[in-house]
Amino acid sequence: MATRHVVRPPFPDDPLAATGRTLRWGVVATGSIARNVTPQLVQLEDAVLHAVSSRDPARARAFADDLGASVAYGDGGGMLGYERMAADPDVDVVYVATPHGQHYEVAKPLLEAGKHVLVEKAFTITGDEAQALVDLASERGVFLMEAVWTRFLPAYQRALDVVASGEIGDVRWVQADLGFAAERDPRARLWSREAGGGALLDLAVYTFTWAFGALGMPTGVHAVGTRTPEGVDGTHALTLSYPGGGVAQLLGTLEAQATRTATIAGTRGTLRTFAPLTHPDGFMVMAGDDHRREEVAPGSAPYAWMLREVARCVQQGLRESPTMPLADTVATMRLFDSVRKQLGVTYPNDERTFGG
Ligand SMILES: NC(=O)c1ccc[n+]([C@@H]2O[C@H](COP(=O)([O-])OP(=O)(O)OC[C@H]3O[C@@H](n4cnc5c(N)ncnc54)[C@H](OP(=O)(O)O)[C@@H]3O)[C@@H](O)[C@H]2O)c1
Repeated sequence: MATRHVVRPPFPDDPLAATGRTLRWGVVATGSIARNVTPQLVQLEDAVLHAVSSRDPARARAFADDLGASVAYGDGGGMLGYERMAADPDVDVVYVATPHGQHYEVAKPLLEAGKHVLVEKAFTITGDEAQALVDLASERGVFLMEAVWTRFLPAYQRALDVVASGEIGDVRWVQADLGFAAERDPRARLWSREAGGGALLDLAVYTFTWAFGALGMPTGVHAVGTRTPEGVDGTHALTLSYPGGGVAQLLGTLEAQATRTATIAGTRGTLRTFAPLTHPDGFMVMAGDDHRREEVAPGSAPYAWMLREVARCVQQGLRESPTMPLADTVATMRLFDSVRKQLGVTYPNDERTFGG
């Protein structure tokens, strides 16, 4: 049996089915991912979308109306929309869907106000920002998690079961690539240093999720890549080393169409995901000379599995998810710090100082 590096969440077959008392949610930001995730959030039997916040009050109102939230908060009158949400006693849990450059500054007042918080990936820009949020959540006794939805998906969990069963033998090598030729717009999130742009923080979270699931936390990383005129990475290639001798190769790019698959190779066979590796609906196992087997897993409402875990943890008084622990998030952000140093990529957030 190989080691299982990610805890299996204790899920029902239906992620929309209630696991406890009804929670009142707030959503910060009205951009692309907020528009994808929130419609699945409102389908949860034990979730009520109470409030939406945007920099623009009219955008908050329109989003709230679309999705049935009663309250809309915007910036103005010397207060930010998310500060108003933090002060709202009728909000239990907040989903932060701003660009990652702003995750720290948005999550901080919410945690200070005692809200449980789900923060989009990448969790922050730096390892120090991540640790500061984790310390704050622990001090306030609230739940905090990075929205790495892939970890909760049935296909990912089942793939890790296959690896742990020993069917492909001892894992020696993982390869994963993710990327696309993104439209060039220096003001857009993907390219902007202020927003935390670049392929690393946007895409490596996912390729790393497969490497971590198969091999655990690496002890070394070697990175090469390209830098855009804005100073973020357009493409990166990471080689990760592990104490047991395994190797992972992860590629992320905003400059080319990638295969968007992950391959886990062991001493007896190989497991390859279907695309996209962010939320595959299955995988193929190849073992020996002539054994090939495909497995499929449910693919609808992919964000609901992660949202179910947040609800379950909050309802049960947990401060973090055993499937997506905060130590993994901090270690991943520290790994990315080291990658950025090798690539020569910096962000304004690097200047932030903490405590002391
Ligand atoms: N889980 C996933 O599948 C997935 C997919 C894509 C992105 N993401 C993550 O989700 C986050 C948001 O990505 P997105 O694609 O939704 O970005 P987006 O379309 O640019 O939307 C981000 C939203 O954040 C708000 N915002 C607050 N402060 C901002 C600032 N200083 N600059 C720009 N926008 C600001 C804006 O909403 P208001 O104008 O309403 O304030 C904006 O619409 C990122 O961390 C990203 O990595 C996750």
